[in-house]
Amino acid sequence: MIRIALTKGRIEEKAVEIFEKIGYDCTELHNKGRKLFFNIGDGVEVVLAKANDVVTYVDHGVCDMGVVGKDTIMEMGRNLYECLDLGFGKCRFALACKKDFDFFDGYGHRIVASKYPNVTKEYFRNRGLDVEVVKIDGSVELAPLLGLSDGIVDIVETGSTLKENGLEVVCDVAPISARLIVNPASLKLKKNDIDKIIDSIAQVL
Ligand code: PRP
Repeated sequence: MIRIALTKGRIEEKAVEIFEKIGYDCTELHNKGRKLFFNIGDGVEVVLAKANDVVTYVDHGVCDMGVVGKDTIMEMGRNLYECLDLGFGKCRFALACKKDFDFFDGYGHRIVASKYPNVTKEYFRNRGLDVEVVKIDGSVELAPLLGLSDGIVDIVETGSTLKENGLEVVCDVAPISARLIVNPASLKLKKNDIDKIIDSIAQVL
């Protein structure tokens, strides 16, 4: 049995399309109600979870594989084998600030708000910049508008959230897309079954 954790929502829908293309029966996933466990045939079971939990379940080995955004993988920083870029859910992490504010001007201490404090700290640490990071749980665009921070590091897809709130991208931080992850021990113990799934997915991408 191979157990795969899918991130609920947009990633789940695209992932289900891929699993159908490679021949699994995902009928139940289209009419799932509140159910969280699905047998999709050929010894494969799917569970639905929140993004952070997909990483936790695969990290602990209770799920062999997972489909999750690179944003979550980067923020959680776990030792997982990231075997495929699935090419959907494309967006990016970017540093943004209020229009006409020069974030990199001068040597002043900067404050950056983000839902992704680890990604943000890592980005500025790698550049040797002294930046204080404040964790915000949602609608992070508010932080510079309220005067809490000089900028934000957040996910940008179309750019319309930034635009509608008078913010603009200063620079890109990292590209994001959905990834197929595998627990390293599962990869050894169930190598043939896992390789078969990875190869089939790679062929339909
Ligand atoms: C993300 C992100 C931005 C928005 C960017 O939020 O935090 O707010 O999408 O997308 P855009 O560039 O296309 O406007 P999400 O929709 O994931 O909701 P959240 O705030 O609950 O995390």
